[in-house]
Amino acid sequence: MQASDGAGVRIRRSLGASPALRLDPFLMLDEFGSEQAADYIGGFPAHPHRGFETVTYMLAGHMRHEDHLGNQGDLGPGDVQWMTAGRGIVHSEMPQQRDGLMHGFQLWINLPARDKMQPARYRDIPAAQIPRLDLPGGGELRVIAGEYAGPAGLVQGPAPATPTQPLYLDLLLPPGAHFALPLADSRNALLYVYAGQARIEDEDIAAQTAAVLGAGDEVVVEAAPGAPLKALLLAAEPIGEPVAQYGPFVMNTHAEIEQTLRDYRDGRLTAAATAES
Ligand code: FE2
Repeated sequence: MQASDGAGVRIRRSLGASPALRLDPFLMLDEFGSEQAADYIGGFPAHPHRGFETVTYMLAGHMRHEDHLGNQGDLGPGDVQWMTAGRGIVHSEMPQQRDGLMHGFQLWINLPARDKMQPARYRDIPAAQIPRLDLPGGGELRVIAGEYAGPAGLVQGPAPATPTQPLYLDLLLPPGAHFALPLADSRNALLYVYAGQARIEDEDIAAQTAAVLGAGDEVVVEAAPGAPLKALLLAAEPIGEPVAQYGPFVMNTHAEIEQTLRDYRDGRLTAAATAES
């Protein structure tokens, strides 16, 4: 779905385009990609979050993050920012370019109730820290989060440990190539195609489409002939709790959302955790 977020940034929202289109614990997946400055120049001025994690992965372009904790970070091509909003963060994400291509993703991952009110954390992961593996059948894999058991042994992504133990892979396959990955059946998983076309079993998955994977203990992704496939492969343990979402706040109940709105209004969203006890 084409949508607009922040100060007029054009995005494509797949997961999370409606509450029924979540895949526990993944709440939302946005792709932003444009060479037209008007589509991104407004950026995402200061806004709050509570109760989940946001993961930004840049393919092209330059964004700058600032938050109320004093963190500042520059995101360039291949960089990842992993932000655990926890009990509350106010941050901005602003483009640092006036023209040229801006391309990337933002994924929202829920937190279980016991972790929603933990202190906010923030981590910049430079592209150079993200393992980039050549695949035996051709193509390339970047391991952003979780573990990948490759021919040369176990590779661990640099993302911080997080309760849902997400796997976040960026897959590049030449036309007609296969990629097979064991995946525990307990995990929810999806493939998001951002270039080319994928085939899983007998299903074709077009670009800008998120495909929710069914039951099983292995996924085999095939790149359609004709063009390279570029796709994100995401998997995580479901939380299995009720989700109450109001914009950038994701809690378990409406009462907690109402409390969050009061906290934000009164400046308690970003107060130190110790100030509350
Ligand atoms: Fe944000």
